[in-house]
Amino acid sequence: MGLVGPGFVGAHHIDAVRRLGFVDVVAVAGSSEESARRKADALGVPRAYGSYEALARDPDVHVVHNTTPNYLHAPVIMAALAHRKHVISDKPLAMTAAEARGLLEAAQRAGVVHAVTFNYRGNPLVQQARAMIAAGELGPLHFVHGSYLQDWLIEPTDFSWRLEPDKGGASSAIGDIGTHWCDLVQHVTGHHITEVLADLTTVVSTRLKPLQATEAFSGSAASQREPIAITSEDLATVLVRFENGMKGCVTVGQVCAGHKNDLWFEVNGTTASLRWLQERQNELWIGHRHAANQLLLKDPSLVSPEARRYAHLPPGHQEAWSDAFRNVIADIYAQIAGRSERISPVVPDERPSFPTFEDGYRAACLVDAVLESHRNGGVWTRVDTKEMART
Ligand SMILES: NC(=O)c1ccc[n+]([C@@H]2O[C@H](COP(=O)([O-])OP(=O)(O)OC[C@H]3O[C@@H](n4cnc5c(N)ncnc54)[C@H](O)[C@@H]3O)[C@@H](O)[C@H]2O)c1
Repeated sequence: MGLVGPGFVGAHHIDAVRRLGFVDVVAVAGSSEESARRKADALGVPRAYGSYEALARDPDVHVVHNTTPNYLHAPVIMAALAHRKHVISDKPLAMTAAEARGLLEAAQRAGVVHAVTFNYRGNPLVQQARAMIAAGELGPLHFVHGSYLQDWLIEPTDFSWRLEPDKGGASSAIGDIGTHWCDLVQHVTGHHITEVLADLTTVVSTRLKPLQATEAFSGSAASQREPIAITSEDLATVLVRFENGMKGCVTVGQVCAGHKNDLWFEVNGTTASLRWLQERQNELWIGHRHAANQLLLKDPSLVSPEARRYAHLPPGHQEAWSDAFRNVIADIYAQIAGRSERISPVVPDERPSFPTFEDGYRAACLVDAVLESHRNGGVWTRVDTKEMART
């Protein structure tokens, strides 16, 4: 594999791929040859390229991972597809739904494996929730609710390229983390969100941008800054409707003190409920009306067969973010390596359990619908996925 954009999350892609044991990490490409060489040396990667085009041309690179800032996702992916490389892109797939659709169609034409790292799908208890719902253990579902709250953008000196529309997209909080929640609940329930009603807020409307670029979550302080006006949201409330009639709501914010990666969802059915919190990811709450509520602790011997292959440690040993990330990468590479027949899908005849560009396109349509709903004063807006071709 080769990776373009060796910043914060890029290192975790490389770590996950190395844990598979059958893939060589061949090259990284950065914004310059010098920075790429520095990153390659730090990560123990042999080749360093100063451009993504050069990495895409390397005949030893069969899979391109794309962990650049959002505005570079499309050109990097198109360069990889031009050389018929499999592509694993981080989220959001693209800046707009139209751009995402172009990438989906180009990937389908190229006939390669395409994936987007909505990595929370890889948690064993997320798969357990999905299997329980697919087996009808909650009865018909009627309500899905939750949040993704963080506090790392609460101060005017907190800054990221995510807040600049030309680099991150017109949406900030929804595009960056709201899409994780939407992908997760759609994956778990097996139903798509078809309508949204959004109320967006920009709590910190002026920020002090560092004059020199800093890496995401590096904690490095900048000495020189300039004030810039912020137009994208850092706080959002969204009501959602699903294709099967389920109702739901989600709150998303990056300015909520004390919340770090406070991602959770709850699904309510007629006979039972499920709740999963990312920050307590080894526990699954199961709610009952006529019996005591339960807390299922992650245990390979207690989860369903579909979830078992995502749990690698005995009970009592905690599995975490990077383990779930590795699980998603493992599913993608299983298909790339032609080993997908070894994996039994959770629901027969279903698409791959990892997120593809279709899911990336769907997420981009959701973001566009959220922005349109808010722009029009908070009105119900259809998530328009057009006639989405299935791969
Ligand atoms: N799945 C997740 O949970 C998760 C977590 C964090 C970030 N992300 C996504 O990953 C992507 C990267 O985010 P990050 O937090 O790692 O950002 P980052 O700023 O830490 O890293 C981006 C890297 O891209 C490099 N880059 C910039 N221009 C380039 C170019 N022209 N060619 C090659 N490299 C270039 C930068 O130098 C930097 O090293 C974003 O799309 C983000 O949404 C996903």
